[in-house]
Amino acid sequence: MNQLIDALSTQGYYIWDDFLSAEEVAQLRDCIPENWKKARIGRNDETQREESIRSDKIQWLKPDMGQPVELFLEKMEQIRLEANRHFYLGLFEYEAHFAKYERGDFYQKHLDCFQGNENRRLTTVFYMNEEWSAQDAGELVVYDLDDNHIATIPPKGGRLFVFLSERFPHEVLPTNAERFSIAGWFRINGVKDNQLDIAR
Ligand code: OGA
Ligand code: MN
Repeated sequence: MNQLIDALSTQGYYIWDDFLSAEEVAQLRDCIPENWKKARIGRNDETQREESIRSDKIQWLKPDMGQPVELFLEKMEQIRLEANRHFYLGLFEYEAHFAKYERGDFYQKHLDCFQGNENRRLTTVFYMNEEWSAQDAGELVVYDLDDNHIATIPPKGGRLFVFLSERFPHEVLPTNAERFSIAGWFRINGVKDNQLDIAR
């Protein structure tokens, strides 16, 4: 946790390998229901699905999906509290979805705090892929705001990538193998359309 906090304050991101053990990853994967939906851009009803931008399928995490999911969310809560303590970010909510990328699926370069998601401040991406090899591709490629390449991250099982949502555009390269992740966001409280932006 100290390394995460240090890295966030110095470089704005951190790659946390073996955040969960292989066994914990397998238990988490077993919790994923078979109820996949096409991902949409943005979080408002009027935002339509944009298959040219992303082609993955998602499901939002809920604690009642099983104990491993509950445990994952508890770990995210610890990160939320530590980040608030060290950075005074005022992160108030965590939302996360499982994502499944099938062969050929991708997500073009984007910022997470866009189109109705302006309150996202800190992103987490957790990977659940046993034995990922270079031929499987599907890497997450990370840039800075000047479009310099920062990192190319294979979606290796147990790995957690954490970054400041506003500072790093990123993309998922087309994958050659089925690829599972949990993308999540810590949000700050805000006012939208004259209404408090509260948890859904
Ligand atoms: C996202 C995202 C990255 C990944 O869902 O916003 O960037 O590696 N996901 O799954
Ligand atoms: Mn993203």
